[in-house]
Amino acid sequence: MRTRPLKVALLGCGVVGSEVARIMTTHADDLAARIGAPVELAGVAVRRPSKVREGIDPALITTDATALVRRGDIDVAIEVIGGIEPARSLITTAFENGASVVSANKALLAEDGAALHAAAEKYGRDLYYEAAVAGAIPLVRPLRESLAGDKVNRVLGIVNGTTNFILDKMDTSGAGYSEALDEATALGYAEADPTADVEGFDAAAKAAILAGIAFHTRVKIGDVHREGITEVTAADIASARRMGCTVKLLAICERAADGASVTARVHPAMIPLSHPLASVREAYNAVFVEAEAAGQLMFYGPGAGGSPTASAVLGDLVAVCRNKLGESTGPGESAYTRLPVSPMGEVVTRYHISLDVADKPGVLAQVATVFAEQGVSIDTVRQQGKDGEASLVVVTHRAPDAALSGTVEALRKLDTVRGVASIMRVEGE
Ligand code: NDP
Ligand code: HSE
Repeated sequence: MRTRPLKVALLGCGVVGSEVARIMTTHADDLAARIGAPVELAGVAVRRPSKVREGIDPALITTDATALVRRGDIDVAIEVIGGIEPARSLITTAFENGASVVSANKALLAEDGAALHAAAEKYGRDLYYEAAVAGAIPLVRPLRESLAGDKVNRVLGIVNGTTNFILDKMDTSGAGYSEALDEATALGYAEADPTADVEGFDAAAKAAILAGIAFHTRVKIGDVHREGITEVTAADIASARRMGCTVKLLAICERAADGASVTARVHPAMIPLSHPLASVREAYNAVFVEAEAAGQLMFYGPGAGGSPTASAVLGDLVAVCRNKLGESTGPGESAYTRLPVSPMGEVVTRYHISLDVADKPGVLAQVATVFAEQGVSIDTVRQQGKDGEASLVVVTHRAPDAALSGTVEALRKLDTVRGVASIMRVEGE
């Protein structure tokens, strides 16, 4: 075993970074044995230097992250700051100055992954980011490496721990939205700005990364159709229950049947309680990958939190250090297909629509006519009267999303429709 240590710069020491540092210290001997050389924490960049950080030598703390990655003796920079800047400049500077990079930063990778991969390739460095998608679950490496000989057609799952935690608490314990969000934040699951979680940006970033790797193309966060969970009400969840369903925030990436394009979307959806994703609780994530030869694979595990995420970071650290010692690099970006991303309107899906309507003769026929005019076939209708008004719940068969949203627009214009109480897609059947 080489005795000269590999030097690691830790950029960020918050929820994830502090756990990375802890595991690097407590498992130092095992990591050295697995890598073939000891790994040494050479510096820790933070924003607030006076904050007490248990287990970290105060002499390693710096607020000058740029100087740290410019030192010239850093072998690996671990970027767990988050956000676009300064993370992007620090990663590029690390490459320029001889370091490979491990990052957990899905926001940055989904925005600028292609440029970062190009920089890594230019300088002959590694860029690994298992922790950026689905916390502890090995998903990036299986898609990049284990499934590199297969053809992936679909990736579907729950990729945000915070929103799954909130929806689960609202469903199973009747907790309020804000109370559940506060708990997820206190547990270290939420992003620095939890809007990224609840508005679906975090899941959309992960969907972009997954679609890019799975379909060997480039998908940016802006290509992903995104809806968060802020509009999901207790009434939606109760309505889902009555249908034998639950509500989950899903990320769905698909290759078109003709193989000529892809789609990527994030939105809440009702799924049957019998579906395996329905039993994914708290901050757990689960992702199905459908590949031509392999068939259906399911990846499941803790999707957020310091320790699970640090596990993925450390796995990458070991891989990158091994590559360094072997004077090689792992696989880079594989985006040769350059498939276009189709708009949401072309995605075929199903809707659950809850309407408040006048309770009088002919209303049902009027509503059914709107569906027929838009070419949308109805699967089930449930009506419940309440004081001269009625609540009408319609579940459709599969139809292009544009036709379904056109149906909702047309329904809103009917005099007899007092309001559209909720619209949710139905998946998993
Ligand atoms: P935190 O907000 O807990 O930690 C961020 C760290 O970065 C802090 O130590 C902060 O310093 C430091 N920092 C912020 N700005 C600067 C700067 N300009 N220069 C140097 N240091 C800076 O975030 P998390 O640990 O939760 O997340 C980090 C990354 O990991 C993000 O990209 C996130 O998306 C990703 N991630 C997080 C997961 C989770 O469950 N939390 C799971 C998977 C990925 P200080 O401590 O002084 O404030
Ligand atoms: N905020 C993210 C989540 C962290 O809740 O899933 C893990 O990526």
